Amino acid sequence: MKSLNVELGERSYPIYIGADLLANPGLLRRHIPGNSAVVVTNTTVGPLYRHTLNTALDGLKTETVILPDGEQYKNMAVLNQIFDALVEGRFDRNTTLIALGGGVIGDITGFAAACYQRGVHFIQVPTTLLAQVDSSVGGKTGVNHPGAKNMIGAFYQPRCVLADTSTLSTLPDRELSAGLAEVIKYGLLWDREFLDWIDAHLNALLNRDNAALTEAILRSCAIKAEIVRQDEREGGLRALLNLGHTFGHAIEAGLGYGQWLHGEAVGAGMCMAADLSHRLGWLSQSDRDRVIDLIARARLPIGLPPTLDGRTLRQRMSADKKVINGTLRLVLMRELGSAVLVDNVPEELINETIQFYTEVHPRHEQQP
Ligand code: NAD
Ligand code: GLY
Repeated sequence: MKSLNVELGERSYPIYIGADLLANPGLLRRHIPGNSAVVVTNTTVGPLYRHTLNTALDGLKTETVILPDGEQYKNMAVLNQIFDALVEGRFDRNTTLIALGGGVIGDITGFAAACYQRGVHFIQVPTTLLAQVDSSVGGKTGVNHPGAKNMIGAFYQPRCVLADTSTLSTLPDRELSAGLAEVIKYGLLWDREFLDWIDAHLNALLNRDNAALTEAILRSCAIKAEIVRQDEREGGLRALLNLGHTFGHAIEAGLGYGQWLHGEAVGAGMCMAADLSHRLGWLSQSDRDRVIDLIARARLPIGLPPTLDGRTLRQRMSADKKVINGTLRLVLMRELGSAVLVDNVPEELINETIQFYTEVHPRHEQQP
């Protein structure tokens, strides 16, 4: 097992990474201060892993809340189901909520923990690669509003993150690739040496080699932990974690949510960010092509969906959360391994990038 700490003063916490961690009851138990715990999971992950998790809770007052599976259920009504179970079961303020699942379960459970009795203990047990490298770390929790994604939430840090790599064995291939997009993102935005490592170990990662996955999760979490340590509430630096996301969110919204996975849209979005960085004179053409090649090898889309036109995409980009006072802010790369937040990118260059991906680039390649 590997571990690292997210250093946030009295709210610091460990991230444990390795195989079969759920079968090690002591690990979880030492982070549960009271005598009660409620596991929140969904109809897919619950049947696979909740029994193993429950053995770690022997002797405690426990309950399991099983939510429907899907992003469309990350809402206030489903959040209320968690509160109903807590109130009906008379769980007190020393209770620990344990999120067992992907990012949807982690986000909604974390928000429930932040709100119930003004805050109860919270543990993340992420079971998708995306959740293990990104959403379970850093304390962003919340639900969607019918009009906008992730609009209602709170920063609320867990007491620990337990990333059991064995759970990834049941993850669908598409979800694995979506998680790899976020792993590649860390290399591109922060650490060129890690990017080289991902390039060299991509096949092992796609083949779910445990040592490679553990290393990728460890290095990704270390980068996220450092960024969160410096900028927990996204005053600036943390926004770099959105590399590829302005294009990606525009693809997701333009296509209609649920068509492409978030990581797939981020994969295509990072190709677009690399192209725009090239047009600004920051990345060489070979660096841009290297990004596109890596994302293609991770079995992610590298172009726009055929049904989405460039104008719609550009309009959707203007609705991004990073638009402040009407100015579009983009995360781009000064060089591979070093991202920057940029205002006022010339409109003609943005349009050239969109055109490159809608007209020039082989758009039918690698559609999910
Ligand atoms: P998800 O939670 O929907 O999980 C993807 C699918 O995989 C689901 O059907 C799920 O039931 C299934 N699944 C999960 N673990 C499995 C396993 N081990 N075996 C088989 N199936 C499994 O999606 P996700 O990609 O994990 O997370 C996306 C969510 O995370 C979005 O809501 C996004 O907004 C949020 N997010 C939050 C942050 C943050 O910082 N809080 C960061 C990134 C994304
Ligand atoms: N996933 C972006 C963040 O945590 O800030």
